Amino acid sequence: MPLYFLRGDITKIEVDAIVNAANPSLLGGGGVDGAIHRAAGRELLEECRTLGGCAVGQAKSTKGYRLPAKYVIHTVGPVWYGGRSGEKEDLAACYRASLDEARRLNCESVAFPLISSGVYGYPKDAALAVAVETVSAFLGGSGDYDPTVYLTFYDDPSPYLTLPDRALLEELVKRPPECSAGGCAREARLLGASPAVSADRTENARRKPSPPSFFRSKRAVKEAAEEAAEEARVFAETLPEESLEERLRRADESFSSSLLRLIDEKGMTDAACYKKANVDRKLFSKIRSNPDYRPSKQTVLAFAVALNLTLPETDALLSKAGFALSRAQKGDIIVSYFIEKGDYNIFAINEALFAFDQALLGAS
Ligand code: APR
Repeated sequence: MPLYFLRGDITKIEVDAIVNAANPSLLGGGGVDGAIHRAAGRELLEECRTLGGCAVGQAKSTKGYRLPAKYVIHTVGPVWYGGRSGEKEDLAACYRASLDEARRLNCESVAFPLISSGVYGYPKDAALAVAVETVSAFLGGSGDYDPTVYLTFYDDPSPYLTLPDRALLEELVKRPPECSAGGCAREARLLGASPAVSADRTENARRKPSPPSFFRSKRAVKEAAEEAAEEARVFAETLPEESLEERLRRADESFSSSLLRLIDEKGMTDAACYKKANVDRKLFSKIRSNPDYRPSKQTVLAFAVALNLTLPETDALLSKAGFALSRAQKGDIIVSYFIEKGDYNIFAINEALFAFDQALLGAS
């Protein structure tokens, strides 16, 4: 079910099927085609000879022979002529045809190179966008067939990962936002939040949900902490003496129950939620059936994104699994940045996490 990004040589990946960016003859070539034929051995070419070639946008499969992968799915991408000759549709057809062939072969895991982005000249950032869009659309509507899909980058993809506001992300990741009022106001403006949200402490602002701590001034954060401490003291004083058993019985709702409640509250189905979270069905079933299940932080964040939670709601869900959003941890800063901007596209978030060598959201 999940879509992951990988750095490295596709011929070395142990998956059920690797996809080859071939040419219509299917008789080998340079680039990844040549690498696959070299690694698989002569038998691959002999089987390819029996296939009678392949048209652009279609896919045919062979065994993997000496490759770690069981199968090779050969597809022929479009040559780039400037983008006005149907290249995007042909490229998308390659990913769909390859995934349909993987389904026919009952593959649980498939690895793609970035088709057409080498010899065929398709601009890498555009090729990546087509790949992510087509694969995620396929996975979102593939019913019971939910393979794990890897997009493999042979070279460093960061120059062409289409990150929104890359400079701001680099700024944020390098220097977590220390809140001097002016600084926060500036940062909030740059990130698209209105300055009023970060600096205004009028009555009106108090009625608005308070801005996440990234954008509140130091004084506002200090005041809020004092208020909370006072409330906690008063609450503790009024608490009747209770036994340990009573306190444990009153224990907070588990992560699993919170997640299921939130899915209902958002009017989502389980499947729609875990697919949007880039989490596979097996993991979701474990969470659903075990109230004490302890997910990874990336899985919790993936569900927070799938449920379109705000930062405070995300913090609350994380706390159910024993985690918290960190202002110093790069991955958390990146995820918070997207949530704060209201961009809940998990593949865009994973592209940004991948570009900064951070763990991706989803099952792990
Ligand atoms: N593992 C993963 N990716 C790889 C590998 C590898 N071993 N080798 C190359 N790549 C990447 C390239 O960096 C590029 O991003 O695969 C992508 C596709 O590049 P090409 O292999 O050149 O494929 P394509 O652009 O689709 O051109 C196909 O080239 O090799 C010939 O016979 C092939 O004529 C066909 C044409």
